[in-house]
Amino acid sequence: MTNKSSRNKTITVTEAEIRLLKRRLLIVDSRLDATDVIDKTILGDALEIIDYLPICFADMLFVDPPYNMSKVFGKTSFKRMASDDYESWVRSWFCKILSKLKPNASIYVCGDWRSSSPLFRVLSDYVKVRNRITWEREKGRGAKSNWKNVSEDIWFATVSDEYCFNLEAVKLKKKVIAPYRHDNGKPKDWKEEINGNYRLTHPSNLWTDLTVPFWSMAENTGHPTQKPEKLVAKTILASSKPGDVILDPFLGSGTTSTVAKKLGRHYVGIEIDRQYACLAEKRIEIAEQDKRIQGYDDGVFWERNLNPDASNKTEKKPRRRQLL
Ligand SMILES: C[S@@+](CC[C@H](N)C(=O)[O-])C[C@H]1O[C@@H](n2cnc3c(N)ncnc32)[C@H](O)[C@@H]1O
Repeated sequence: MTNKSSRNKTITVTEAEIRLLKRRLLIVDSRLDATDVIDKTILGDALEIIDYLPICFADMLFVDPPYNMSKVFGKTSFKRMASDDYESWVRSWFCKILSKLKPNASIYVCGDWRSSSPLFRVLSDYVKVRNRITWEREKGRGAKSNWKNVSEDIWFATVSDEYCFNLEAVKLKKKVIAPYRHDNGKPKDWKEEINGNYRLTHPSNLWTDLTVPFWSMAENTGHPTQKPEKLVAKTILASSKPGDVILDPFLGSGTTSTVAKKLGRHYVGIEIDRQYACLAEKRIEIAEQDKRIQGYDDGVFWERNLNPDASNKTEKKPRRRQLL
Protein backbone atom coordinates (compact mmCIF):
# COMPACT_ATOMS: atom_id res chain seq x y z
CA MET A 1 0.00 0.00 0.00
CA THR A 2 1.40 3.44 -0.95
CA ASN A 3 1.28 6.31 1.53
CA LYS A 4 -0.71 9.37 0.44
CA SER A 5 1.10 12.69 0.60
CA SER A 6 -0.38 14.90 3.34
CA ARG A 7 -1.48 17.39 0.63
CA ASN A 8 -3.35 14.68 -1.26
CA LYS A 9 -7.00 15.16 -0.22
CA THR A 10 -8.49 12.44 -2.45
CA ILE A 11 -11.60 10.90 -0.86
CA THR A 12 -11.49 7.10 -0.85
CA VAL A 13 -13.65 4.33 0.61
CA THR A 14 -12.15 1.33 2.35
CA GLU A 15 -13.76 -2.14 2.28
CA ALA A 16 -14.80 -1.62 5.91
CA GLU A 17 -16.47 1.70 5.03
CA ILE A 18 -18.24 0.07 2.09
CA ARG A 19 -19.73 -2.50 4.48
CA LEU A 20 -21.28 0.36 6.50
CA LEU A 21 -22.17 2.72 3.67
CA LYS A 22 -23.89 0.11 1.50
CA ARG A 23 -26.62 -0.20 4.16
CA ARG A 24 -27.71 3.32 3.22
CA LEU A 25 -28.09 2.51 -0.47
CA LEU A 26 -31.58 1.94 -1.76
CA ILE A 27 -32.20 -1.27 -3.70
CA VAL A 28 -35.30 -0.99 -5.82
CA ASP A 29 -37.56 -3.66 -7.28
CA SER A 30 -41.01 -2.10 -7.09
CA ARG A 31 -42.72 1.24 -7.67
CA LEU A 32 -41.70 4.00 -5.25
CA ASP A 33 -43.24 7.14 -3.78
CA ALA A 34 -41.35 10.44 -3.65
CA THR A 35 -40.82 9.96 0.11
CA ASP A 36 -39.03 6.65 -0.56
CA VAL A 37 -36.46 8.15 -2.92
CA ILE A 38 -35.79 11.70 -1.76
CA ASP A 39 -32.22 12.12 -0.46
CA LYS A 40 -31.30 8.59 -1.48
CA THR A 41 -28.58 6.98 -3.54
CA ILE A 42 -30.13 4.10 -5.48
CA LEU A 43 -27.83 1.23 -6.41
CA GLY A 44 -28.62 -0.34 -9.76
CA ASP A 45 -29.15 0.06 -13.48
CA ALA A 46 -30.75 3.43 -14.24
CA LEU A 47 -32.44 2.01 -17.34
CA GLU A 48 -34.49 -0.31 -15.10
CA ILE A 49 -34.81 1.89 -12.00
CA ILE A 50 -36.23 4.92 -13.83
CA ASP A 51 -39.46 2.94 -14.33
CA TYR A 52 -39.93 2.61 -10.57
CA LEU A 53 -39.43 6.32 -9.80
CA PRO A 54 -42.55 8.39 -9.00
CA ILE A 55 -44.13 10.58 -11.67
CA CYS A 56 -43.45 14.34 -11.74
CA PHE A 57 -41.18 14.54 -8.70
CA ALA A 58 -37.93 16.20 -9.90
CA ASP A 59 -37.39 19.95 -10.29
CA MET A 60 -34.07 19.59 -12.08
CA LEU A 61 -32.25 16.86 -13.98
CA PHE A 62 -28.48 16.72 -14.18
CA VAL A 63 -27.21 13.95 -16.45
CA ASP A 64 -23.56 13.07 -16.99
CA PRO A 65 -23.92 9.78 -18.88
CA PRO A 66 -21.05 7.66 -20.15
CA TYR A 67 -19.79 9.47 -23.26
CA ASN A 68 -19.58 7.50 -26.47
CA MET A 69 -16.14 6.07 -25.77
CA SER A 70 -14.85 2.83 -24.30
CA LYS A 71 -14.31 3.43 -20.60
CA VAL A 72 -14.08 1.36 -17.46
CA PHE A 73 -16.20 2.58 -14.54
CA GLY A 74 -15.27 0.48 -11.53
CA LYS A 75 -16.68 -3.01 -12.09
CA THR A 76 -18.64 -2.08 -15.21
CA SER A 77 -17.55 -0.63 -18.50
CA PHE A 78 -19.03 1.28 -21.43
CA LYS A 79 -18.17 0.31 -24.99
CA ARG A 80 -18.07 2.84 -27.80
CA MET A 81 -20.89 2.35 -30.32
CA ALA A 82 -21.84 3.67 -33.73
CA SER A 83 -23.26 7.18 -33.32
CA ASP A 84 -26.81 6.04 -34.24
CA ASP A 85 -26.68 3.30 -31.63
CA TYR A 86 -25.51 5.77 -29.00
CA GLU A 87 -28.42 8.02 -29.94
CA SER A 88 -30.85 5.09 -29.51
CA TRP A 89 -29.28 4.26 -26.15
CA VAL A 90 -29.69 7.87 -24.96
CA ARG A 91 -33.28 7.94 -26.25
CA SER A 92 -34.07 4.68 -24.39
CA TRP A 93 -33.56 6.31 -20.99
CA PHE A 94 -34.25 9.96 -21.76
CA CYS A 95 -37.82 9.44 -22.93
CA LYS A 96 -38.55 7.46 -19.74
CA ILE A 97 -37.06 10.13 -17.44
CA LEU A 98 -39.29 12.85 -18.89
CA SER A 99 -42.39 11.72 -17.00
CA LYS A 100 -40.41 11.98 -13.74
CA LEU A 101 -39.81 15.72 -14.24
CA LYS A 102 -42.11 18.53 -13.16
CA PRO A 103 -43.53 20.69 -15.99
CA ASN A 104 -41.24 23.60 -14.98
CA ALA A 105 -38.07 21.48 -14.63
CA SER A 106 -34.70 22.35 -16.11
CA ILE A 107 -32.33 19.82 -17.66
CA TYR A 108 -28.55 19.73 -18.03
CA VAL A 109 -26.90 16.97 -20.08
CA CYS A 110 -23.12 16.61 -20.43
CA GLY A 111 -21.21 15.32 -23.45
CA ASP A 112 -17.98 15.58 -25.39
CA TRP A 113 -17.59 16.51 -29.08
CA ARG A 114 -18.56 12.98 -30.18
CA SER A 115 -21.63 12.46 -28.01
CA SER A 116 -22.86 16.05 -28.09
CA SER A 117 -24.66 15.80 -31.46
CA PRO A 118 -26.63 12.63 -30.66
CA LEU A 119 -27.52 14.17 -27.30
CA PHE A 120 -28.78 17.33 -29.00
CA ARG A 121 -30.90 15.33 -31.45
CA VAL A 122 -32.59 13.40 -28.64
CA LEU A 123 -33.12 16.47 -26.47
CA SER A 124 -34.60 18.53 -29.28
CA ASP A 125 -37.15 15.78 -30.00
CA TYR A 126 -38.60 15.96 -26.46
CA VAL A 127 -37.75 19.24 -24.71
CA LYS A 128 -36.84 22.86 -25.36
CA VAL A 129 -33.11 23.17 -25.87
CA ARG A 130 -32.03 26.63 -24.71
CA ASN A 131 -28.28 26.68 -24.87
CA ARG A 132 -25.04 24.74 -25.19
CA ILE A 133 -22.54 25.56 -22.50
CA THR A 134 -18.94 24.85 -23.40
CA TRP A 135 -16.65 24.04 -20.51
CA GLU A 136 -12.92 24.53 -21.08
CA ARG A 137 -11.78 21.56 -19.03
CA GLU A 138 -8.03 22.38 -19.15
CA LYS A 139 -6.88 18.82 -18.65
CA GLY A 140 -6.81 16.55 -21.69
CA ARG A 141 -4.70 13.85 -23.24
CA GLY A 142 -2.42 15.15 -26.01
CA ALA A 143 -2.85 13.53 -29.44
CA LYS A 144 -0.14 12.94 -32.05
CA SER A 145 -2.31 13.58 -35.09
CA ASN A 146 -5.31 15.46 -33.77
CA TRP A 147 -6.21 18.43 -31.60
CA LYS A 148 -6.14 17.79 -27.89
CA ASN A 149 -9.65 17.54 -26.42
CA VAL A 150 -9.98 20.12 -23.67
CA SER A 151 -13.64 21.02 -23.87
CA GLU A 152 -16.98 19.48 -23.02
CA ASP A 153 -20.55 20.49 -23.74
CA ILE A 154 -23.41 20.82 -21.31
CA TRP A 155 -26.79 21.10 -22.99
CA PHE A 156 -29.28 23.28 -21.13
CA ALA A 157 -32.95 22.55 -21.80
CA THR A 158 -36.30 22.95 -20.11
CA VAL A 159 -39.47 20.87 -20.17
CA SER A 160 -41.61 23.90 -21.00
CA ASP A 161 -41.42 27.68 -21.31
CA GLU A 162 -42.18 28.01 -17.59
CA TYR A 163 -38.89 27.62 -15.77
CA CYS A 164 -36.73 29.42 -13.23
CA PHE A 165 -33.37 31.02 -13.95
CA ASN A 166 -31.78 32.74 -10.95
CA LEU A 167 -29.35 35.05 -12.72
CA GLU A 168 -28.20 36.84 -9.57
CA ALA A 169 -27.15 33.53 -7.99
CA VAL A 170 -24.65 32.68 -10.74
CA LYS A 171 -22.88 35.92 -11.51
CA LEU A 172 -19.13 35.65 -11.97
CA LYS A 173 -16.76 37.81 -9.92
CA LYS A 174 -14.07 39.12 -12.26
CA LYS A 175 -11.06 41.31 -11.71
CA VAL A 176 -11.45 44.63 -13.56
CA ILE A 177 -8.56 45.21 -15.95
CA ALA A 178 -9.39 48.77 -17.02
CA PRO A 179 -11.43 50.29 -14.17
CA TYR A 180 -13.55 53.02 -15.75
CA ARG A 181 -14.81 55.87 -13.56
CA HIS A 182 -17.73 58.29 -14.10
CA ASP A 183 -16.97 62.03 -14.30
CA ASN A 184 -17.74 62.27 -10.59
CA GLY A 185 -14.95 59.72 -9.89
CA LYS A 186 -17.29 56.88 -8.90
CA PRO A 187 -16.54 53.38 -10.30
CA LYS A 188 -18.71 52.30 -13.27
CA ASP A 189 -20.23 48.82 -12.55
CA TRP A 190 -17.34 47.69 -10.35
CA LYS A 191 -16.29 47.87 -6.71
CA GLU A 192 -13.05 48.72 -4.98
CA GLU A 193 -12.12 45.99 -2.52
CA ILE A 194 -9.07 45.42 -0.32
CA ASN A 195 -7.64 42.90 -2.78
CA GLY A 196 -8.39 44.84 -5.96
CA ASN A 197 -11.20 46.02 -8.20
CA TYR A 198 -13.96 43.55 -9.06
CA ARG A 199 -17.09 43.39 -11.17
CA LEU A 200 -20.01 40.94 -11.06
CA THR A 201 -20.66 39.89 -14.65
CA HIS A 202 -23.45 37.99 -16.41
CA PRO A 203 -22.47 34.33 -16.72
CA SER A 204 -21.93 33.26 -20.35
CA ASN A 205 -22.17 29.87 -22.03
CA LEU A 206 -18.37 29.60 -22.13
CA TRP A 207 -17.12 28.30 -18.80
CA THR A 208 -13.40 28.86 -18.36
CA ASP A 209 -13.40 29.33 -14.61
CA LEU A 210 -13.23 25.75 -13.38
CA THR A 211 -10.86 22.83 -13.51
CA VAL A 212 -11.25 19.07 -13.37
CA PRO A 213 -10.86 18.03 -9.70
CA PHE A 214 -7.28 17.06 -8.90
CA TRP A 215 -5.53 15.36 -5.99
CA SER A 216 -5.01 18.40 -3.75
CA MET A 217 -8.66 19.52 -3.99
CA ALA A 218 -10.91 18.48 -1.09
CA GLU A 219 -13.59 17.23 -3.49
CA ASN A 220 -11.30 14.89 -5.44
CA THR A 221 -12.03 11.14 -5.67
CA GLY A 222 -10.61 8.32 -7.76
CA HIS A 223 -13.63 8.32 -10.11
CA PRO A 224 -12.32 8.58 -13.70
CA THR A 225 -14.77 11.25 -14.91
CA GLN A 226 -15.70 13.23 -11.82
CA LYS A 227 -17.29 16.63 -12.53
CA PRO A 228 -16.17 19.69 -10.52
CA GLU A 229 -18.54 20.69 -7.72
CA LYS A 230 -18.38 24.28 -8.95
CA LEU A 231 -19.75 23.25 -12.36
CA VAL A 232 -22.71 21.43 -10.84
CA ALA A 233 -23.25 24.28 -8.35
CA LYS A 234 -23.72 26.76 -11.21
CA THR A 235 -26.47 24.65 -12.76
CA ILE A 236 -28.24 23.99 -9.45
CA LEU A 237 -28.14 27.61 -8.31
CA ALA A 238 -29.34 28.91 -11.68
CA SER A 239 -32.11 26.39 -12.18
CA SER A 240 -33.54 25.39 -8.81
CA LYS A 241 -34.68 26.81 -5.49
CA PRO A 242 -33.77 25.67 -1.97
CA GLY A 243 -35.82 22.57 -1.14
CA ASP A 244 -36.14 21.48 -4.80
CA VAL A 245 -35.32 17.91 -5.88
CA ILE A 246 -32.35 17.28 -8.20
CA LEU A 247 -32.22 13.95 -10.06
CA ASP A 248 -29.02 12.39 -11.46
CA PRO A 249 -29.40 8.92 -13.02
CA PHE A 250 -25.64 8.40 -13.63
CA LEU A 251 -24.38 9.61 -10.27
CA GLY A 252 -20.75 8.40 -10.38
CA SER A 253 -18.86 9.67 -7.34
CA GLY A 254 -21.90 11.64 -6.17
CA THR A 255 -21.04 15.20 -7.22
CA THR A 256 -24.65 16.17 -7.98
CA SER A 257 -26.07 14.84 -4.70
CA THR A 258 -23.20 16.33 -2.69
CA VAL A 259 -23.63 19.79 -4.23
CA ALA A 260 -27.42 19.59 -3.89
CA LYS A 261 -26.96 18.86 -0.19
CA LYS A 262 -24.45 21.71 0.24
CA LEU A 263 -26.88 24.13 -1.40
CA GLY A 264 -29.96 23.06 0.56
CA ARG A 265 -31.63 21.05 -2.20
CA HIS A 266 -32.84 17.44 -2.10
CA TYR A 267 -31.28 14.80 -4.31
CA VAL A 268 -31.94 11.43 -5.90
CA GLY A 269 -29.01 9.63 -7.49
CA ILE A 270 -28.72 6.31 -9.33
CA GLU A 271 -25.38 4.53 -9.75
CA ILE A 272 -24.70 1.03 -11.02
CA ASP A 273 -21.30 0.54 -9.35
CA ARG A 274 -21.46 -0.24 -5.63
CA GLN A 275 -18.12 1.33 -4.78
CA TYR A 276 -19.01 4.62 -6.49
CA ALA A 277 -22.45 4.60 -4.85
CA CYS A 278 -20.71 4.23 -1.45
CA LEU A 279 -18.25 6.97 -2.38
CA ALA A 280 -21.24 9.19 -3.13
CA GLU A 281 -22.70 8.41 0.30
CA LYS A 282 -19.39 9.25 1.96
CA ARG A 283 -19.22 12.60 0.14
CA ILE A 284 -22.82 13.36 1.13
CA GLU A 285 -21.92 12.66 4.75
CA ILE A 286 -18.89 14.96 4.56
CA ALA A 287 -21.18 17.63 3.08
CA GLU A 288 -23.29 17.54 6.22
CA GLN A 289 -20.40 19.19 8.07
CA ASP A 290 -18.56 21.06 5.33
CA LYS A 291 -20.71 22.98 2.87
CA ARG A 292 -17.89 24.75 1.06
CA ILE A 293 -17.60 24.54 -2.71
CA GLN A 294 -14.20 25.40 -4.14
CA GLY A 295 -14.39 28.51 -6.31
CA TYR A 296 -17.80 29.56 -4.91
CA ASP A 297 -17.48 31.80 -1.91
CA ASP A 298 -19.56 34.50 -0.23
CA GLY A 299 -22.38 33.77 -2.67
CA VAL A 300 -20.35 34.44 -5.83
CA PHE A 301 -18.40 32.41 -8.35
CA TRP A 302 -14.77 33.44 -8.60
CA GLU A 303 -12.64 33.31 -11.72
CA ARG A 304 -10.52 30.12 -11.84
CA ASN A 305 -10.92 29.34 -8.12
CA LEU A 306 -9.05 32.51 -7.28
CA ASN A 307 -10.69 34.06 -4.25
CA PRO A 308 -7.82 35.89 -2.51
CA ASP A 309 -9.60 35.53 0.85
CA ALA A 310 -10.27 31.80 0.52
CA SER A 311 -6.83 30.71 1.81
CA ASN A 312 -7.68 31.98 5.33
CA LYS A 313 -11.00 30.15 5.29
CA THR A 314 -9.31 26.89 4.32
CA GLU A 315 -7.52 26.87 7.68
CA LYS A 316 -10.85 26.76 9.50
CA LYS A 317 -11.99 23.64 7.70
CA PRO A 318 -13.30 21.02 10.18
CA ARG A 319 -11.35 17.78 10.17
CA ARG A 320 -12.99 15.08 8.14
CA ARG A 321 -14.84 12.64 10.39
CA GLN A 322 -13.74 9.04 10.02
CA LEU A 323 -16.68 6.79 9.28
CA LEU A 324 -15.26 4.01 11.37
C1 LIG B 1 -19.69 10.04 -16.56
S1 LIG B 1 -19.84 9.15 -15.08
C2 LIG B 1 -20.62 10.30 -13.98
C3 LIG B 1 -19.65 11.07 -13.14
C4 LIG B 1 -20.30 11.97 -12.13
N1 LIG B 1 -20.93 13.12 -12.76
C5 LIG B 1 -19.30 12.45 -11.08
O1 LIG B 1 -19.11 13.67 -10.93
O2 LIG B 1 -18.69 11.62 -10.43
C6 LIG B 1 -21.09 8.02 -15.47
C7 LIG B 1 -21.44 7.07 -14.34
O3 LIG B 1 -22.59 6.32 -14.74
C8 LIG B 1 -22.48 5.02 -14.23
N2 LIG B 1 -23.34 4.16 -15.04
C9 LIG B 1 -23.07 3.64 -16.27
N3 LIG B 1 -24.13 2.95 -16.71
C10 LIG B 1 -25.08 3.05 -15.76
C11 LIG B 1 -26.41 2.55 -15.65
N4 LIG B 1 -26.96 1.81 -16.62
N5 LIG B 1 -27.12 2.85 -14.54
C12 LIG B 1 -26.57 3.61 -13.55
N6 LIG B 1 -25.31 4.08 -13.59
C13 LIG B 1 -24.58 3.82 -14.69
C14 LIG B 1 -20.99 4.70 -14.28
O4 LIG B 1 -20.64 3.70 -13.34
C15 LIG B 1 -20.36 6.06 -13.98
O5 LIG B 1 -20.03 6.17 -12.62
